Amino acid sequence: MDQAQISRPTIKKSLWRFPVIDYTAHPIYRQPGAKTGFNDTIAALKQYWPDYFAGMYRYKENRKRIMKHAFLHKRSQAPSDLAEFEESGVLIRRIDQRFIEDLKNRLNEIIGFDMDTVDIDGQEVRRYIHFANEDPEIERLQFEMLNKHDFIEIAKHYTNAKTIDMAGWKIRIQQPNTEFKKNLFADVGQSVPETNYLHVDSSFPGSMLKMVLYLGEVNGSNGPFCYVPGSHRLNEPIWRVIARRVNHKSGIQSWDPETRERFMRLPAFFRHKAEFGNDILPNSELAQTLLKHEIQVTSDVGNFILFDNSGMHRGGLVEQGRRVCLQWTMNALG
Ligand SMILES: [Fe+2]
Repeated sequence: MDQAQISRPTIKKSLWRFPVIDYTAHPIYRQPGAKTGFNDTIAALKQYWPDYFAGMYRYKENRKRIMKHAFLHKRSQAPSDLAEFEESGVLIRRIDQRFIEDLKNRLNEIIGFDMDTVDIDGQEVRRYIHFANEDPEIERLQFEMLNKHDFIEIAKHYTNAKTIDMAGWKIRIQQPNTEFKKNLFADVGQSVPETNYLHVDSSFPGSMLKMVLYLGEVNGSNGPFCYVPGSHRLNEPIWRVIARRVNHKSGIQSWDPETRERFMRLPAFFRHKAEFGNDILPNSELAQTLLKHEIQVTSDVGNFILFDNSGMHRGGLVEQGRRVCLQWTMNALG
């Protein structure tokens, strides 16, 4: 992966709408000729409505906040990288190695072990270490790297936020694991497609941005972060934006046979997932389009990533070695 690949045209040139998966025609989800009874659908809807209404409310509140401050930052000078971020939904930047080492040393002191060598237990796919960034040294390092790349100003302009809240930090340590997102369809003897784990997050568009900082070398085989530039701007009707997120939060998007069946009892217009990549048919035109546009962020391109998490992304699918990174969130407030 080189710089030229990072700056390839966004997916908006190939796709206009956010893709929809036809689950009725999906061989894993629906046997030929099978149908859901009317009563089953009614029962599923009865269970579904409360979650969906809660989702609608959250969506409305978020939109209200965005609209209220539509002109908040219009008169101030826009950060120079804002246009790039608005276009692609992702910025890939570099923090120098000396700085990363200082940060790692302080983090290791706080967590009480060395994140590069700690045994994370073969059974564990990933280990999260959550902590509030209250340490003054961490705070200082955090603002130094955010300010270096104008990330806070970009986030404020992008989300129309009055203030940005830095949500708790997560150190994520991952090692190869045969389970993580790989055996979703083992019950029917199918492997996951090449687009597996491609997803959007369950937060609503414009409510937050996410950041990833690689604390070690990341190459093609230890789970690079991947993003489909421009996918955050694909059009999608509001009810579908909500359904994807509600289905994620309520757990009905899971891949075990029982949940798949429950999912299929929903009317087709509610059958949308935030984590849709596992259900894209291999070698389909959609799969090829997404894979063609997806960029893979390896350490040689950059180690500090800001992204709109309502765009398509994935990461941490470690085949070999260990991936250690820091992840955190900027929540839009006000
Ligand atoms: Fe995500």
